[in-house]
Amino acid sequence: MRILFYAAKSYDRESFDAALKKYSDIEIDYIDHELGPRSASLAVGYDIVCAFVSANINAKTLQIFAKCGIKAVLMRCAGYNNVDVEKAKELGILVKIVPGYSPEGVAELAMGLALAANRRLCKSYNRIRENDYSIDGLCGLNFHGKTAGIIGTGKIGYAMCNICTGFGMKVIAYDVYKNPMLEKFVEYVSLNELYRRSDLISLHCPLTDKNRHMINSEAISKMRDGVILVNTSRGGLIDTTDLIRGLKQGKFHGVGLDVYEEEAGNVYENRSCDMSFSSTTSRLLAFPNVVMTSHQGFYTKEALDAIAATTLQNATEAIAGKRSANDIA
Ligand code: NAI
Repeated sequence: MRILFYAAKSYDRESFDAALKKYSDIEIDYIDHELGPRSASLAVGYDIVCAFVSANINAKTLQIFAKCGIKAVLMRCAGYNNVDVEKAKELGILVKIVPGYSPEGVAELAMGLALAANRRLCKSYNRIRENDYSIDGLCGLNFHGKTAGIIGTGKIGYAMCNICTGFGMKVIAYDVYKNPMLEKFVEYVSLNELYRRSDLISLHCPLTDKNRHMINSEAISKMRDGVILVNTSRGGLIDTTDLIRGLKQGKFHGVGLDVYEEEAGNVYENRSCDMSFSSTTSRLLAFPNVVMTSHQGFYTKEALDAIAATTLQNATEAIAGKRSANDIA
């Protein structure tokens, strides 16, 4: 079985080559190109393609795959908002994901961002490197005794509820389904109540057509003044223009973003010598209380190993035409 692996980075090759030792029947070709309609035809001669969060797996991409005889698209991630699932079903192309490869790792980054934004850690780090030992402007808030509002209490949200509880926070949550493992120590509330009561809001729900821009000016206006907002889920959950408006109005004590709307052209690329910056991303970066990382929530050793192992298992099942809980199409 031949797999074309799009947008491969050195750490992908390392983890997949190690996992591949167990699969003598699988051959992987790694390419740097990102997957989209313009690069889909590179998959001719392959059985399966493997893609990540920034791929554009729209109807056109899938139609080209169908012509190339591609049997399955293996997402080496949990989110699949970049896949036209209905088109894949229509064309009979299997799409498999890797759910829950290391939810604790993503939740730990979410808390890391919350702390960094709250305690101005990045600003402080830069100051001290300049021999500046002053601390004015770096004052934070105690998390202990405050209220954390978790939106989406699946695998990552569950881990985040545990972390916040460990910090001595009262945890409230909103989800379309209640997680029975949380009912003993988490209070489920409406979204409006969560906005009204939370000192820290962390997003852990998937991005869908229904909840795109759920964090907009209206939602922000319902939040407490001085709230800390963290997004490690998907950039499209937040309307960036409205977030910037809220930041300018001083609504937020801090904002931590591992994902943001315009990330597709940026993630995992070194653009440090690039002169063409997008206005909204650079505007976000200009706020002293905003901390951003480049979609690295998934990026731990444990997660990389788990992603490689499950993706190769998905490949074997896809070729055998076997359905599993990892199928989205
Ligand atoms: P999950 O499927 O275990 O949990 C998602 C939860 O969100 C479910 O309980 C679901 O009922 C809930 N939900 C769905 N729609 C909702 C809505 N409109 N409002 C509130 N809750 C809603 O998924 P998991 O593994 O916890 O991942 C969550 C998200 O985290 C993924 O969809 C992905 O976008 C993102 N993610 C980000 C990573 C990163 O590197 N930053 C890595 C892995 C995942």
